[in-house]
Amino acid sequence: MASPMRSLLVDPARYVQAFRLFLERSTEHQCMKEFMDKQLPDVIARIGNGKSTINVLSVGGGAGEMDLLILSKIQARYPGVTINNEVVEPSADQISKYKEHVAKASNLENIKFTWHKETAYEYESRMNAEKKSKKWDFIHMIQMLYYVRDIPATIRYFHSLLESQAKLLVILVSGESCFISAVQLGKSHGSSFPLEDLCTYISSASFSRILDSAGLKYQLYELPSYMDITSCFIEGNKDGELLLDFLTETLEFSKTAPPELKRQIIEELRKPGCSENRDGKVLFHNNLSVIVIEP
Ligand SMILES: C[S@@+](CC[C@H](N)C(=O)[O-])C[C@H]1O[C@@H](n2cnc3c(N)ncnc32)[C@H](O)[C@@H]1O
Repeated sequence: MASPMRSLLVDPARYVQAFRLFLERSTEHQCMKEFMDKQLPDVIARIGNGKSTINVLSVGGGAGEMDLLILSKIQARYPGVTINNEVVEPSADQISKYKEHVAKASNLENIKFTWHKETAYEYESRMNAEKKSKKWDFIHMIQMLYYVRDIPATIRYFHSLLESQAKLLVILVSGESCFISAVQLGKSHGSSFPLEDLCTYISSASFSRILDSAGLKYQLYELPSYMDITSCFIEGNKDGELLLDFLTETLEFSKTAPPELKRQIIEELRKPGCSENRDGKVLFHNNLSVIVIEP
C-alpha cells in the first residue's frame, strides 16, 4: 500500500510556516547570534586581506537574518570595503522576506546583493554550463545541507570555489541533538516514514566523517540550543502539529502517521535525554554545531 506520509518539503509554504514557528519557539538564531558576535570575528579575520572587494556566497540563506549578521561582522572587520553578497536560495517566499529585511536594514551601503532562485545543485550546474568557477572569500551553508541530494559532492564543489584565505562555514544539528533520534525512531518503524524523500538526516557527527574522508581540515564549535515543544503534547493544537511536522520533516505528521509511530515519537520527545521540564514548559535539546572548513 502506498505510504500517506510525505516529506514536509513537498509543501514549501507549510515548510516555511513551520520553520518560522520553530525560530519563534527556539533559541536557534539567538545561539547563532552569540557565535557570530563572539567567534565569527576570529573566523573571518583574514578572509579579505589585500582585497578591494570581498565575495560572500550564502547557500540556502533563507530570509537572510543570519546573512545580515555575518555581513555586519565582515563590514566591521573591513570597514569601507565593498562586499559582493550572492544568495543561492530556491524558495521565492524566503527571497522576498530576505529582500524585506535588506530594505529595512541600515548600513548596507557597501554591500551589493544578488539573489539566485535556485538550489545548490542548480547553481553548480549553471556555473558548469556557463564554464564559470567564480571564487569566494566566504561561503556559508546554515541549516541547509539536509536538503541536498549528495552532501560529499556538494561540499567538494563549494570547497573548490574557496580563495586561498577563505572559509566555508556550515551549521548543522549537533551529533547530540534529539532531532536525529526522533527521525531514527521513524526510520526503525519501517517504510512508512518518508526517509528518502528530499531530506537527509545528517548531524555534525556524520558530517565530520565526510570531511575526514575527503581529507579536509576544519574546526568544530558546539552551540547549546533548545526549543519549546510544550504545544506538541496538546492534542489538536495547531502550533504543536506544525512543530511536529518540522521535527519529523513530515507533512501533516499528526494526521498521516500511524498511531503507534505518533505515540512513540511523542514519548521519545519527552525522554530526559531529549528534553527537560522547566517552568511548566517542555524544552527540547536542539544543540547545533558550527563547522569551519579551511580552503
Ligand atoms: C532551515 S532553512 C535555513 C535558512 C537560513 N540559513 C537560516 O538559518 O535562517 C533551510 C533553507 O535552505 C533552503 N534550501 C532547501 N533546499 C535547498 C537546496 N537544495 N539548495 C539550497 N538551499 C536550499 C530552503 O529554502 C531554506 O530557506
